[in-house]
Amino acid sequence: MGWGVSAVTIEEGIGLELDDIQIGALHERPSPYVGTYLLLRIDDRTAGRALVRRLLPLVDSGRTSSLPEHGAWITVAFTYSGLKALGVPQESLDSFAPEFQQGMAARAAELGDVGESDPRNWEEPLGTSDVHVAVAVLSPDAARLEAVAERARHAHHELAGVELIWRQDCYQLPTGRTSFGFKDGIGQPAVEGSGRPSSHPSEEPLKAGEIVLGYPDETGELPPMPTPEVLGRNGTYVVFRKLHTRVAAYRQYLRAKAASREEEALLGAKMVGRWQSGAPLAVSPDRDDPALGADPARNNDFGFADDPRGFKCPAGAHARRANPRDSLDQDGSVNVRLHRMIRRGTSYGPMLPDGVLEDDGADRGIVFVFAGAHLRRQFEFVKTQWLNDGIFIGAPAEKDPLVGQSDGSGPFTIPRTPIRRRLPDVPPFVVTRGGEYCFAPSLSALRWLADLDT
Ligand code: HEM
Repeated sequence: MGWGVSAVTIEEGIGLELDDIQIGALHERPSPYVGTYLLLRIDDRTAGRALVRRLLPLVDSGRTSSLPEHGAWITVAFTYSGLKALGVPQESLDSFAPEFQQGMAARAAELGDVGESDPRNWEEPLGTSDVHVAVAVLSPDAARLEAVAERARHAHHELAGVELIWRQDCYQLPTGRTSFGFKDGIGQPAVEGSGRPSSHPSEEPLKAGEIVLGYPDETGELPPMPTPEVLGRNGTYVVFRKLHTRVAAYRQYLRAKAASREEEALLGAKMVGRWQSGAPLAVSPDRDDPALGADPARNNDFGFADDPRGFKCPAGAHARRANPRDSLDQDGSVNVRLHRMIRRGTSYGPMLPDGVLEDDGADRGIVFVFAGAHLRRQFEFVKTQWLNDGIFIGAPAEKDPLVGQSDGSGPFTIPRTPIRRRLPDVPPFVVTRGGEYCFAPSLSALRWLADLDT
């Protein structure tokens, strides 16, 4: 396989080519926002290339802020089948990461997408070879969103060989909270050269090559990059997952295990590693501190090294599993920086009103988007080794209590003195509705794709 590294030498310290990188990977989204995800199928490669040409002027780069001049921002990404449908030569298709070539559905057993989350139960057309192009449109308000989404829809209008096959509206509340009630999107790595400051003062920005292809990564090497150079460079892999959240089941479980509302909030926080406001347990272990949760200068400024036994934040809590920070690499055996990723979670479906414990049957949850240069050692590693397994924290029977691949029989341990508390039979609170591995090419790669003449 041509699983090669670019021949171009990248000198140390060279800046990121922000003008060429799609805005979605490096820029925070506006907050709050409304958005929509569109999936398209290309039946005719000439029409597909015409679509790419029409989308190009709508895509912002990492240098331009889409706000307020453009009113919204658009990200365009392709699946392996999509690049194939556009007529990308086989030699080039073979140079993409093997996981991307296989697609997310083929990785189901590995990722723990089994039972209800099995691709056979996924929402149509997710996980099928019909999904070719993914377009995300985001805007601070509905009017501007519609205007830009209309332009995006117009891009495929009258193109007989391109079909809009799926649409999912999404939003972020002004509080930043998602369906389980927790503020999300706080823990995020900074990227060297992006010009965006780190929210975690003791975490050095990641080498650009961890997120964007064509630059050295944390190992000092250039990550494997698809060929030709113009297609791979300044691109990034994007993991897209629609996750249904069982909010009523989650609330019922906490109610059944807690003696009071205060304890309910505490157990919920122990599962996540943060209070609902976003305040980290590592800083405020006993009670929520909304001012801390809302303060970007403080709400990500912590580690776990002073809490090895997890009395403040359990080692099994979701956010500590997903980013163990300084708690794992003390003997140098695990480099947490190799498993970081950019996260762009967003809510879909109506929120279950506060206090309601009965399921109203509505489909609600999170559309999760992760960006990074390494599908396997970033998203797949975190999902399989840290969320779906407990060996790394010395608790093989335990999975992530919120999002782990659960069969409803696993425990969740909350360390405390004099004796720990063990919550039994944690039910599955998250069901995978579908997803795709995509590639978000650079702006020059989009031009290259539009101009293909194969
Ligand atoms: C429906 C499913 C999920 C929900 C409701 C959820 C919720 C949350 C919440 C509330 C936080 C804490 C807020 C923050 O630090 O930003 C968080 C952090 C995080 N989650 Fe998730 N998450 C989900 C799935 C996942 C998955 C599948 C992964 C990775 C494979 C993941 C990776 C992370 C990471 C890396 C962090 C940041 C940790 C840090 O830097 O401190 N999450 N998540």
